[in-house]
Amino acid sequence: DQAQILSGKPTKVWRYAGNLLKGPPNALTASVEGYLGPLMRFVKGQKIRIRLRNDLPEETITHWHGLHVPMLMDGHPMAAIDPGQTYVYEFEMRNRASMYFYHPHTHEATATQVYRGLAGAIIVEDEEERALGLPAGEFEIPLIIQDRSFDDDNRLAYGGDMHTSMFGFYGDRILVNGRPDLRLEVASRAYRLRLLNGSNARIYKLCWDDGTPLTVIGVDGGLLEKPETRPYVMLGPAERVDLFVDFSGRAVGSTLVMRSGRFYGMIPPMAQRMMGSELMVGDDYPLFTARVTRATSDSPKLPEKLSTIRRRRQEEIANPNDPIPIAITMAHMAMLLNGRSYDHEDIQPRERIPVDTAQLIEIFHEHGQMGMGGMGMGGAGMGRMGMMRGHMGGGMGMMGGGMGGGMGMMAMMSMAHPIHLHGQPFEIVGRAFDDGDAEAYASIREGFIDSGLKDTVLVAPGERVRIVKPFDDFKGRFMYHCHNLEHEDAGMMREFLVE
Ligand code: C2O
Ligand code: CU
Ligand code: CU
Repeated sequence: DQAQILSGKPTKVWRYAGNLLKGPPNALTASVEGYLGPLMRFVKGQKIRIRLRNDLPEETITHWHGLHVPMLMDGHPMAAIDPGQTYVYEFEMRNRASMYFYHPHTHEATATQVYRGLAGAIIVEDEEERALGLPAGEFEIPLIIQDRSFDDDNRLAYGGDMHTSMFGFYGDRILVNGRPDLRLEVASRAYRLRLLNGSNARIYKLCWDDGTPLTVIGVDGGLLEKPETRPYVMLGPAERVDLFVDFSGRAVGSTLVMRSGRFYGMIPPMAQRMMGSELMVGDDYPLFTARVTRATSDSPKLPEKLSTIRRRRQEEIANPNDPIPIAITMAHMAMLLNGRSYDHEDIQPRERIPVDTAQLIEIFHEHGQMGMGGMGMGGAGMGRMGMMRGHMGGGMGMMGGGMGGGMGMMAMMSMAHPIHLHGQPFEIVGRAFDDGDAEAYASIREGFIDSGLKDTVLVAPGERVRIVKPFDDFKGRFMYHCHNLEHEDAGMMREFLVE
């Protein structure tokens, strides 16, 4: 399909088309003009049937990110269909109200398929939420943030070299709902802005240009128990944040700009130089603008209490003293989980999980093993390292400089990873900063909303995060992986076998 993204020539895109839309058209569907899939709206308890017909020149499969569905409805890469084929999904909506994400999960082609435009949002509603009277209709605006690059002919351009698969793709134009420089026209009242980071790899530090704090009412898996105020919110790929934004009292004609604020340390400095984007991760740049165009006096109030979250008690956790590890490791220029890359045949003992249990899981960077010896890199490994040195050219100089501080080479390569688990959302029960650049960490640490239910958690360099994740109802294989899509495609993905 063609999409008009920049002015001038249209670009070729792939898209989810069709008659999926439920309810009234809204800001998302109105503004995408051929880029991004339609917004889907469902109600908790609803029985759903979706037919996916593959009109692409390659195989694909769609995953409903964040939804609690049986394995065969989850868009497992093994279920991918060939061009011309159809896959029928049927499931019941078990999720709480929230905004979810749908995108391809094609083996080694998720990043490129999402990049071309295959992505969209799902909004689920439920009774609990409806009773709150939050801003709705035109006052509720889903916003999908992505970064893209264009060539001189306005065509979408994707790097795709070795650095892309190592660090992820970073574009130099920000698109919101498929548009550059998105401007929202708002009334002077409260809005609900529902943001989804639909980027392949880019991490944002959301903040308002005038320093107004953000009022957070929800995250990936639905509403928080009560609103939380933050100077900024960190949003990694696939994460969502639900904001209550009150424009009351703002003059007609005034603007409020959402920016990504300055931060440090989420990606190695040398990677920044190699990735070739003019928009560095951690730079300060605008995302979209809201302009007050009309005055109004009726505006819903922010409820003090939003919801009740079911948390597992200690005795409900199957392994309270023995967390299942998810170690972020790096070897041979590939990012791995627990030292392994994706292999459908290879299920490790700790990846077998009894159904209807809640498990404690610890996600951490495996610094201890990142030394040369621990990585299992003998002479052969060093050979590869030498090769890497060659590839990295000028970048190594900077790295060498940074290594004086006692950090090993692998620690210098450490970056933030948005770790995602399929199936039910999880609680974040601990987040600790073990080691690393404390100053860089200070530029992000107030931006995590760990009090809500999550399906993706950003694990910054030096961090260790503990989650409690239920595996209820469905047996089968459920993936866990890095949602830096280039990392996912490069094998930074594993499966739990729920049995
Ligand atoms: Cu949003 Cu397995 O992915
Ligand atoms: Cu998912
Ligand atoms: Cu990663």
